[in-house]
Amino acid sequence: MQINVTVNDETYTEEIEPRLLLVHFLRDQLSLTGTHWGCDTSNCGACVVWLDGTPVKSCTVLAVMAHGKEVRTVEGLATADGLDPVQEGFRQCHGLQCGFCTPGMLMTSRWLLDHEPDPSEGEIREAISGQICRCTGYENIVRSVRWAAEHAASSTDDTSTEEATV
Ligand code: FES
Ligand code: FES
Repeated sequence: MQINVTVNDETYTEEIEPRLLLVHFLRDQLSLTGTHWGCDTSNCGACVVWLDGTPVKSCTVLAVMAHGKEVRTVEGLATADGLDPVQEGFRQCHGLQCGFCTPGMLMTSRWLLDHEPDPSEGEIREAISGQICRCTGYENIVRSVRWAAEHAASSTDDTSTEEATV
């Protein structure tokens, strides 16, 4: 079957098998390997992307469900102006070690900041509670998100940028 899907502002028309998961469509068919595939059982959150602006675990979504919709992956966070603040926050605050969980953490954190520009530690921990990091103990991830909150707004959502900077 054929689907039309917009990924990181680029539109694709692709032939897929109906059973294909979104995570495999992104990684294997579009070569967007920034989205990681960890557990395949909706536990780890390494596969989180946005589907029409909402974070989803792409191992639990069929690619066909993205037909006619917009997907944003970690490759779509940075702009020509540089890293998204949340990426810079993870860099500044050592929010990653092996980096396997990081794409999902970044997408969830960016979404959180777009909806709550000044989240508390508790709100950050709740937002990432569906995601597992085996390395960091989460402390530096929380610090990284706070760094992003304190330094800038979204680079992917103009409306949120305005809201977050006023
Ligand atoms: S690969 Fe999707 S939640 Fe782990
Ligand atoms: S940095 Fe290794 S799993 Fe999070």
